[in-house]
Amino acid sequence: MCGIFGCIEESSKAKKILIKCLNGLKKLEYRGYDSAGIASIENGRILQYKTTGKVHSLDKNIINTKDLSLAIGHTRWATHGAISEKNAHPHTDTSKSLSLVHNGIIENYKELQYELKQNGIHCISDTDSEVLTQLIAYYFKGNMIKALQTALDKIEGSFAIALIHKDFPDTIFASSRDAPLVIGKSKNTIQLSSDVHAFSGKTMKATFLADNEIASITHKEITVYNEEGKKKEKEDSVLHIDPKQHSKGPYPHFMLKEIFEQKINFSKSVDTFLTNDNLHHEIRPILETNTDQILIIACGSSYHAGLIVSSMIEELLSIPTQVRIASELRYQSPALTKNTLAIAISQSGETCDTLGAVKNIKNKKLPVFAICNVKGSTLTRIADHTLYIDAGPEISVCSTKAFSAQLTLLQLLVLHLTKDNLKKNIILSNLTSVKHALDYLLSHTAKIEKLAKKYSLYEKFFFIGRDVMYPTAMEASLKLKEITYLMSIAYPAGEMKHGPIALIDSKLVTIALCGNEKTLGKITSNLIEIKSRNGPILAFCPKGSKEIEEIADDTFFLPNNLDDFFSPLIYSIALQLFAYFVAIEKKTDIDQPRNLAKSVTVE
Ligand code: G6P
Repeated sequence: MCGIFGCIEESSKAKKILIKCLNGLKKLEYRGYDSAGIASIENGRILQYKTTGKVHSLDKNIINTKDLSLAIGHTRWATHGAISEKNAHPHTDTSKSLSLVHNGIIENYKELQYELKQNGIHCISDTDSEVLTQLIAYYFKGNMIKALQTALDKIEGSFAIALIHKDFPDTIFASSRDAPLVIGKSKNTIQLSSDVHAFSGKTMKATFLADNEIASITHKEITVYNEEGKKKEKEDSVLHIDPKQHSKGPYPHFMLKEIFEQKINFSKSVDTFLTNDNLHHEIRPILETNTDQILIIACGSSYHAGLIVSSMIEELLSIPTQVRIASELRYQSPALTKNTLAIAISQSGETCDTLGAVKNIKNKKLPVFAICNVKGSTLTRIADHTLYIDAGPEISVCSTKAFSAQLTLLQLLVLHLTKDNLKKNIILSNLTSVKHALDYLLSHTAKIEKLAKKYSLYEKFFFIGRDVMYPTAMEASLKLKEITYLMSIAYPAGEMKHGPIALIDSKLVTIALCGNEKTLGKITSNLIEIKSRNGPILAFCPKGSKEIEEIADDTFFLPNNLDDFFSPLIYSIALQLFAYFVAIEKKTDIDQPRNLAKSVTVE
């Protein structure tokens, strides 16, 4: 986790470099916002400002600083050590010669710390990052590339680092292993970032650092060395960045903006998919070559998208499909056939657990197909093929539009590949109803807001559903807990009687997702069982569900002409809105909820 940003300009022309660095960091706050810090070199001395809390807390520190020519900065999601100024980055060595920012985890830091101590070097923070800083300083004998090579060679774990040294006032050094770091170059500036979207230029030439490469960056050039310290030619890619995507527009929160974007994104995905022949030529051979098993790997909301689509794959493609949480799968030994196709789903393409599980699969020489949002991310570079969901940057930590775009893309893919033409044509002809349902839902948010107000007074929630509505309930429950901090659990409605129903009383709300036509009668019976035990019920159900309306305390009706496979999309969006409006009542930090980060690059 954590975001790294750096910038460097020609010293005679450089203006407000610290402000530029903070602006870059602010765009990386989705990666963590426990503490922040910035460093530069002024008159041959390291200059550092650190704070707990968000990046904007640093603004006041830099108002009176001179025009410096370089800066590195960091926004932290705490792993080693509490949230404190002492543990905030940048870290410096004992002699205050260098300053370093780090993203990742140094697994053998205790061992290295002990070795440093034996040599009289004492760390003052609780972080693994300071150990790395001290280690580099310890090996530095005038040649920074050599010092980095030696220190990084001793490191076990992952890192993306940027550092400055007082003896090199015009250079930022950087390196990475299993963590993203990209260097962007435009006419007047060179920037360094954990994510291309933080770059300030509209068009930039980007150099992505590969594992163990070391870069030496001045305002004029980027020199990359391999792990043996030999210079290496790297190819640039040209990036076009749309600054509008980083503004909330008329919305009070990115989350609400991104919820509304789902309507346009859905139509865009459908149109692209139905008309893009190249895409189909690329995909068909991958899935048609004897695939006898599909293994979906993901975390968080991406995992829920995988779960929802897995029943559609099994029903329409008849391929046995398992969906596994990446952090679990990494340390398991799944029984996989040699014709297994792995599909890794990740918005960021940087989730450490997903990458770890994918690497294991690649070691078994099985093909990996990525579904990703972020172009050029690590996942897309290690997967054999990537399909981009093209949802645009998702800024809110809580995933909305990326989740629905993953779902839609995978569902369209299944429709494209199925040989059940009858079913396929029925579903395809029904896609217009999905668009209408989205219009309907997004123009009835006031009712959801009212319901959210009422239910925000409760503290415990059950989300229940059957069939594809169960993983939809899991996603809805995740949204509520992420941004409201309320206790919520998702359960398959039919399983309630095997234990969880014991919890039902007048204080525990059941939110029922009744969008699965096949099991509507069954979930109705489950609701009766809950009502008989005085449990308050809020049901989201198809228009005309008279019986549910009578049982539930409140109902929100959704169109009743949706195909069972596409209901999860509409119901998820309704429940995203519900969670959003409850969070408004709770006055939480909706776009950056406590303890979370958008891209989890540690285990
Ligand atoms: C974090 C985010 C979630 C996201 C999960 C997986 O926990 O807060 O919203 O679903 O990571 O992220 P990925 O980028 O791999 O989809």
